[in-house]
Amino acid sequence: MAHRVPRFITDFFVYETAKSVVVKSWSVGIINRVVQLLIILYFICWVFMHEKGHQQRDTGIESAVMSKVKGLGKFNNRVMDVADYVVPSQGGSSFSVITSMVITANQTQGRCPETDPKFKCTTDDECMAKLGSNLGNGIITGTCLNNNNETTGWCEIEGWCPAEDDTVSGKPMKEVENFTIFVKNSIRFPLFNVTRGNFPSSLNQSYIQSCHYDSVDDPFCPIFKVGDILRHINQSFDSITDKGGEIGININWKCNLDYNVMYCNPNYFFTRLDAAFKNSAASKGYNFRFAKYYQSEDGTEHRTLHKAKAIRFEIIVSGNVGRLYSPKCYKAAYVTYGLATVFCDIILLNFHKGADEYKAKKFEEVSGIVSESANNRLYEGSQMSLKALEKRSNDSGTFSIGRQDPSNQ
Ligand SMILES: *[C@@H]1O[C@H](CO)[C@@H](O)[C@H](O)[C@H]1NC(C)=O
Ligand SMILES: *[C@@H]1O[C@H](CO)[C@@H](O)[C@H](O)[C@H]1NC(C)=O
Ligand SMILES: *[C@@H]1O[C@H](CO)[C@@H](O)[C@H](O)[C@H]1NC(C)=O
Ligand SMILES: *[C@@H]1O[C@H](CO)[C@@H](O)[C@H](O)[C@H]1NC(C)=O
Ligand SMILES: *[C@@H]1O[C@H](CO)[C@@H](O)[C@H](O)[C@H]1NC(C)=O
Ligand SMILES: *[C@@H]1O[C@H](CO)[C@@H](O)[C@H](O)[C@H]1NC(C)=O
Ligand SMILES: *[C@@H]1O[C@H](CO)[C@@H](O)[C@H](O)[C@H]1NC(C)=O
Repeated sequence: MAHRVPRFITDFFVYETAKSVVVKSWSVGIINRVVQLLIILYFICWVFMHEKGHQQRDTGIESAVMSKVKGLGKFNNRVMDVADYVVPSQGGSSFSVITSMVITANQTQGRCPETDPKFKCTTDDECMAKLGSNLGNGIITGTCLNNNNETTGWCEIEGWCPAEDDTVSGKPMKEVENFTIFVKNSIRFPLFNVTRGNFPSSLNQSYIQSCHYDSVDDPFCPIFKVGDILRHINQSFDSITDKGGEIGININWKCNLDYNVMYCNPNYFFTRLDAAFKNSAASKGYNFRFAKYYQSEDGTEHRTLHKAKAIRFEIIVSGNVGRLYSPKCYKAAYVTYGLATVFCDIILLNFHKGADEYKAKKFEEVSGIVSESANNRLYEGSQMSLKALEKRSNDSGTFSIGRQDPSNQ
């Protein structure tokens, strides 16, 4: 009956089953145990203890940040408070603290000379060549204003006049280094439904009003002194206020929920975010412009233009939590065991003395024997038919080769 079925069908309907071959060899046995030991150590020390491979992790942190700057400073003999120097005022995760400004007061719409050295001229033709430039303080009209005795003049612009002259700049507001930033950060890990805040609710009012963050003495204090932050990132106050800059306050939540959630607290660290451009010749620092508008009695619109150099703070929240997840444990243990077998098989099949004998024992085809004896020995099982080939076979289907075990004789 079997002869009438096409061969590719019989080739397809086969069943492969694993067979254990016990190799009684000291060398392979020792290698096997050493490899198993190494793999177990690797899993315990690296995968479990260091990488927390047995845990399910949630990296999708949800975060809300609120910030508040406090401090009073003096700039150009004017006292500056929070409303003057913090932009924007909402107190989010990104805000700027202005350290110095170029103030151009009483601008109105009109025509006046440029102030930028790029727009110096002696004839109208030079200004005609600069028509449409984006770099001016207004639209270039194409006339060279040269109405005094000097040989060079400035191109005329149409726009807000007088034009800003940003070569005159006041002294930076020194008090910024004593300003404090209060950070309130609330996070949630949706996978485990864990909600935490960056300071314990047990902190009392009087403590919060007087503390300053310190990684050793006051790790839970959510108030950061600008001077301390600059010291942490090794930046001098002058170097950052000179041109402005960008600082990151990183809040990192890395929690192990196998312990009490009480121990889930953030770590803070600070970075100079624009460090890559610190020595850039093209663009250095950070500045921006804003204006305040008012109307005079005769109805003309005036504005005061501010070009501000500022330290921009970015509060960056990151983190992940882990919790014991048993399927990953089992999988890791399973892989561990399998790896030792694979390694020893490679040695046995390729580099060991009795490799050929081992190969013969390990890979066997029993198709012919089974089909020939199938008719009369069907219910005795394949163990019987194997016996013809393997005199040492036993009920467990386990074979032994190599070193003889005296107890089995
Ligand atoms: C503002 O400018 C206008 C003309 O542009 C001038 O008349 C006025 O006096 C100025 N006001 C102040 C306060 O400087
Ligand atoms: C132009 O020069 C003359 C003399 O050389 C002088 O008297 C006059 O004040 C100067 N004008 C200006 C606007 O500088
Ligand atoms: C900052 O505060 C310290 C101590 O309160 C003070 O000695 C120092 O002068 C202050 N710095 C500035 C620039 O005001
Ligand atoms: C998350 O936990 C809070 C209490 O901590 C509980 O009130 C809320 O029902 C939980 N949400 C879910 C989706 O389990
Ligand atoms: C506030 O807390 C601090 C320590 O966290 C403690 O030393 C102080 O006595 C507390 N003050 C009040 C009024 O509870
Ligand atoms: C801080 O910067 C100075 C020079 O800018 C350098 O000599 C010093 O090693 C730096 N310190 C740290 C802790 O990076
Ligand atoms: C199979 O094992 C049993 C006991 O486990 C033993 O009595 C028997 O002799 C073994 N047979 C062979 C062929 O080794």
